[in-house]
Amino acid sequence: MAIKWTENLAVGISVIDAQHQELVKRIGEFQEACQRRQGPEHLKKLYEFLRNYVEEHFQTEERYMKKYEYPATDEHVRQHDWFRKEFFSLKDKLEDVGSSSDDEVKSLGLVIRTAALLTDWFINHIAGSDKKMGLFLREKGC
Ligand SMILES: [Fe+2]
Ligand SMILES: [Fe+2]
Repeated sequence: MAIKWTENLAVGISVIDAQHQELVKRIGEFQEACQRRQGPEHLKKLYEFLRNYVEEHFQTEERYMKKYEYPATDEHVRQHDWFRKEFFSLKDKLEDVGSSSDDEVKSLGLVIRTAALLTDWFINHIAGSDKKMGLFLREKGC
């Protein structure tokens, strides 16, 4: 079953929730493509979207955290940095993939790693660190 955005992922800051909803929607579409065994074809489209959108999203959160002097900012930014590094390393690998049968195996490996990164990391990050940040920001009157 593909992931869907639910109210329990809401952090309570509308601009951040709107971005999370878009991200969750794209992750869900990727999962559906994987279920249709179209994961490899869908990967490039997904990476093109995430490349800019994830950065825009992280910067939105980081601006809020700095502006309101969120005490766990450094740890939260470290988590974003870890994702940035992981994402770009997978993206580079994807660019090296050609069309031989060896490459087919590589591309399937990338599908699996991408699915794990997005579902495990992203969803847990929203449900954990982002929600904590949202609670703090709302206490500050955001
Ligand atoms: Fe987030
Ligand atoms: Fe975050």
